[in-house]
Amino acid sequence: FNSFVAENEPMPSYEPGSKERQLLEETLKSYEGKVKDIPIVIGDEEIRTKDVRHVVCPFDHRRKIAKFTYASGDIVQKAIDNSLKARREWDRTPLEKRAEIFWKAGQLMTHKYRYDLLATTMLGQGKNIWQAEIDAAAELIDFINFNVQFAKDLTQYQPLSPSPEETNTIVYRGVEGFWAAITPFNFTAIGGHLPAAPALMGNVSLWKPSDTAMLSNYLVYNIYREAGLPAGVINFIPADGPVFGDTVTASPDLAGINFTGSVKTFRHLWKQVGRNLDIYKGYPRLIGECGGKNMHFVHPSANLDQVFYGAVQSGFEYSGQKCSALSRMYIPKSMWPEVKQNLQNIHKEMVVGTPLYGKTFLSAVIDDKAFDRCASYLKHVESSPNLSIVAGGKCDNSKGYFVEPTIVESTDPKEKILQEEIFGPVVTVYVYPDEKYKEVAEIATETSPFALTGAIFAEDPNAVAELSDMFRECAGNFYVNDKSTGSVVGQQPFGGTRLSGTNDKAGGPYYLLKFMSPQAVKTRN
Ligand code: ALA
Repeated sequence: FNSFVAENEPMPSYEPGSKERQLLEETLKSYEGKVKDIPIVIGDEEIRTKDVRHVVCPFDHRRKIAKFTYASGDIVQKAIDNSLKARREWDRTPLEKRAEIFWKAGQLMTHKYRYDLLATTMLGQGKNIWQAEIDAAAELIDFINFNVQFAKDLTQYQPLSPSPEETNTIVYRGVEGFWAAITPFNFTAIGGHLPAAPALMGNVSLWKPSDTAMLSNYLVYNIYREAGLPAGVINFIPADGPVFGDTVTASPDLAGINFTGSVKTFRHLWKQVGRNLDIYKGYPRLIGECGGKNMHFVHPSANLDQVFYGAVQSGFEYSGQKCSALSRMYIPKSMWPEVKQNLQNIHKEMVVGTPLYGKTFLSAVIDDKAFDRCASYLKHVESSPNLSIVAGGKCDNSKGYFVEPTIVESTDPKEKILQEEIFGPVVTVYVYPDEKYKEVAEIATETSPFALTGAIFAEDPNAVAELSDMFRECAGNFYVNDKSTGSVVGQQPFGGTRLSGTNDKAGGPYYLLKFMSPQAVKTRN
């Protein structure tokens, strides 16, 4: 246990002709023509119901890659009962032993399943090689390894004994009851992390994966089991969102909800918990990470190269479907002609298509709902006199859910497109008179109810200090002269405030405190 020292996972090159690229391509081939049959898993029992669903590739919606079935409320209840049974022994299993299992899972991911993790994330969630690697390999493995390290550090604290007559100790227990982990499509790493972090600390979790991330998430679940995770510590429960949410929030044993997804769903769950408060044995803990309307604010002293590349990467990698993605940008008028020209030039070179091709920069959005939402914003741009297209603007769902990377200019700093979350490859720019930067920065702070990520671009140190202060409450993850995406576990713990979430900072040490219920024990000597 003491020899586990976490380090960020290095990224292989995947250059054409490299060994990694060849292995990945072979792995991708092995999925051709196959439809994976994914069960509900409770303990060691696999269950299938009549409510059958399919997972398709977002970039080729005729290609089915997995089949699964939804659990009914009764099955979710059965999973709760099963996990409560598993909890007794698991919570009493020493942390060293639990950590060994997760450390082994990290090793299996690094050495045995890396290409499968990438392939399932590329096929099912539409990520290109690089985006799949930073998510399903690097970030997932980092979450696991760093949590082991953080758990070790946190639980080392024991009180100083004030007198020879007594000994004081802290027993680091999990939280009584079960956790519901409700996970999103956009990061395989978040899928794997949300049920695993509570489990490491001695809790049991019911994992409801996103329908569209089912293929990669089921693989992650199986890796945990192969590493030695006992049956029932994490139960794998594909289910309709409301059925799952209603059942877990109606259980007196709910210990907490570890959630990443929409504001609407998180608020609904929170209200359910409020309504049911009298039935619970304790106070369920609610952890939520719910999206953003992330900005890049460019000051007249900014370095322009950082501005274009930052915008393109943050706004368009993975089609803007990271919760941290850039969605609104504020640019001084003096810089706009050059920035616009460069963005248009880069735009022409961006390859949009199948994520399986090495040169693809971005692929399709995740599903028909995401496509329709983006399409409705593009329609809004067409019909609004304050908005114009700088680049892109088209979409096509005939083969896959493709939305062109789109840059929009708004002449109104309070236009709804600068306020609402789109969760797609659409970045809106507001061009401001240089001398009005403080006034516009003020508007930028007020126009969004979210506060997840944000970035400022400025070389002038006074401007950096001033803008950092103005944006103090506007981002849980704040970047100076860098893009708003790409937080690294152990380096920039992640989470936002306001409607973006409860800011519990995944990838940092304090996150694990949420899953502990320490017992202070005094013994008279
Ligand atoms: N950790 C992810 C990022 O920062 C969400 O882009």
